[in-house]
Amino acid sequence: MQRFAVFGHPIAHSLSPRLHTLFAAQLGIELEYVATEAPPERFMEIAREFFAQGGRGANVTLPDKRLAFELADAHTQAAQRAGVANVLTRQTDGSLEAHNTDGAGLIRDLRERHRVQLEGCRVLLLGAGGAAQAVAWALLDAGVHELIVANRTLARARALADGLAQPERVCISEWHALERCAAFDLILNATSAGVLGTAMKLPLSLASHGTSAYDLAYGRAAQPFMAWARDAGAQRVFDGLGMLVETAADSFEHWHGVRPRTDEALRALRMA
Ligand code: ATR
Repeated sequence: MQRFAVFGHPIAHSLSPRLHTLFAAQLGIELEYVATEAPPERFMEIAREFFAQGGRGANVTLPDKRLAFELADAHTQAAQRAGVANVLTRQTDGSLEAHNTDGAGLIRDLRERHRVQLEGCRVLLLGAGGAAQAVAWALLDAGVHELIVANRTLARARALADGLAQPERVCISEWHALERCAAFDLILNATSAGVLGTAMKLPLSLASHGTSAYDLAYGRAAQPFMAWARDAGAQRVFDGLGMLVETAADSFEHWHGVRPRTDEALRALRMA
């Protein structure tokens, strides 16, 4: 039987085993998929061991995504652009390929599930860490007109914007300067504030009736940003559970060559 895993720390909360098992059942594929605790100082050793023992593929979540990128011998364009990887695949010659499905998953959830128009829109991206970097490219590819990256530590926003190398469409903002910005079409929260349970101060003027607000996190971690967005008057407010399902489906397709039905899986997760 083909063996898969998800690595992260902590990992007990991960929905990936459930999603991959569900997808496999939909499509009549037999596989084993386990959640494996991998603190960053042990990630390399644990992942190498998994693949040496015949593991076929692994998803990688926080805080190991950069290490996964470093571990791989080859990188898809999506991983290369993101600089971090959430999918590792053992190739037939035994080498490891790194891939990143975060950007594609976000765009599919926004466009196809929530019908958010991305072409020509003005987007505020909050955060400049790995999550932000992974989705920034995808937003530009999707045709957004303007991307403003705001980060508490401005130097990281600058590094992210420099890497995107599209100064005509990408600019950065200091966090405190956000109060001077007009309302955005789309605001994405890619910070880890919600996950860490720390406060994030945002002016209400960033959103208006026409704003879509999206938190890349889901569950309790997404609640503070979503509450802020509703207070600010945004009509369309989403968490990142749909993105999680789409990114999982993309990695499933990468490994098995068939795409599972994601709406069904999302409904099952929401009901749980
Ligand atoms: P990830 O891989 O999830 O992106 P990361 O690389 O540690 O994790 O990045 C976390 C991001 O959340 C950073 O942009 C961080 O801002 P700093 O670069 O200034 O540290 C941002 N962040 C975390 N807590 C925050 C808070 N309370 N308010 C604003 N930004 C926050």
